[in-house]
Amino acid sequence: MKLLDILKFSEEYLKKYSFSKPRLESEKVISHVLNLERITLYAYFDMELNLEQKEKIKSYLKAMARNRVNFDELPKEEISVPKERDCTLENRALLQKSIDYLAKNDVIDSRLDAEYIFAHVLKVKRTILSMNLRKEISLAEKEEIKDLLYKRAKEKKPLQYLLGEWEFYGLPFKVDERVLIPRADTEILVEQCKFILNEIENPKVLDIGTGSGAISVTIAKEIPSATVLGADISGDALEVAVENRKINNVESNLKFIKSDVFSNIKDMDYDMIISNPPYIPQEEYEELMPEVKKHEPQRALTDNGDGYYFYKKISEEAPKYLKDGGYLAFEVGYNQAQEVSELMKKSGFQIIAIVKDYGGIERVVIGRKSGEESVDKIS
Ligand SMILES: C[S@@+](CC[C@H](N)C(=O)[O-])C[C@H]1O[C@@H](n2cnc3c(N)ncnc32)[C@H](O)[C@@H]1O
Repeated sequence: MKLLDILKFSEEYLKKYSFSKPRLESEKVISHVLNLERITLYAYFDMELNLEQKEKIKSYLKAMARNRVNFDELPKEEISVPKERDCTLENRALLQKSIDYLAKNDVIDSRLDAEYIFAHVLKVKRTILSMNLRKEISLAEKEEIKDLLYKRAKEKKPLQYLLGEWEFYGLPFKVDERVLIPRADTEILVEQCKFILNEIENPKVLDIGTGSGAISVTIAKEIPSATVLGADISGDALEVAVENRKINNVESNLKFIKSDVFSNIKDMDYDMIISNPPYIPQEEYEELMPEVKKHEPQRALTDNGDGYYFYKKISEEAPKYLKDGGYLAFEVGYNQAQEVSELMKKSGFQIIAIVKDYGGIERVVIGRKSGEESVDKIS
């Protein structure tokens, strides 16, 4: 039996006993039993009531008829204290309204983004959000949700910056507009480097253009025997990287340095140099979606040229900083793998792997500095 049917039934019942406002009294009874505001009752007109709720309503109606009083005048002992109000239905409706609002404003993953925003404000994991919508959302929480939705929809602020944190390789990272948001593609670079580094005793690693520290922190965490140096030209980015080092508890084997590519790098005995440099060509940068162009640091995205500046520079200078047999590993743009391989070969690297991302695009290029020593050292 649906709510509207129960309402009609109750109204008829009270009419029979000559109640002067049978509709109003019925609404009071039903909203009390369902723990809903009376004015919101009609929003749930097709809600199915369970047996317990129906029995409760009947017993109130009988008590009112027996005592010849309105619901508010029922003796206290006749009224049970309602349980905490179940707000699932209204919260779901609010979530759906938020999804529609984002979709209307061209946010591609409107459902995902709205769920992340709700989960963030309500302080629950997104994956269990649907099970955590019972509790009333406070006015302050609603205001915060509204504010974040507006920034996402109208200002096109990336979700990750709104949340202030994002996961990379299963680890938590603080992110804000000082750093590039770590991408899933870069996890492939890290994964490939890990395979190689696991075979080297106490490997020494340099990450050029460390940004949030996504690569450095992950390598330092996954390979505790490694010593890692993360370099970046941006002091702002390095501040974030330092925080991420702390959050992930890798302060003992990870250092950061401000450096324009190799300008401040002193050691010449690295086992591996990794870089995910700014590789978007200037003309493609101009066409980027507003989320990226308006909010992520330009210096992290483009070399303001043909997209190959850093690949050339790092490939040419890396041999000086690597041991013989050391590795140079790059993340590359969607159409850059072959050209980057050529640049690396020109600088004396032997290409050992070109790895595709989940979309089938060549995303990672790894080369090895030639040298006798290398063959024995790495199994
Ligand atoms: C594509 S982001 C990579 C960030 C991070 N490693 C990641 O994978 O998420 C490139 C980084 O290179 C840095 N960068 C730009 N020019 C640089 C330079 N001349 N020397 C060192 N780092 C530079 C930027 O500040 C930015 O943090």
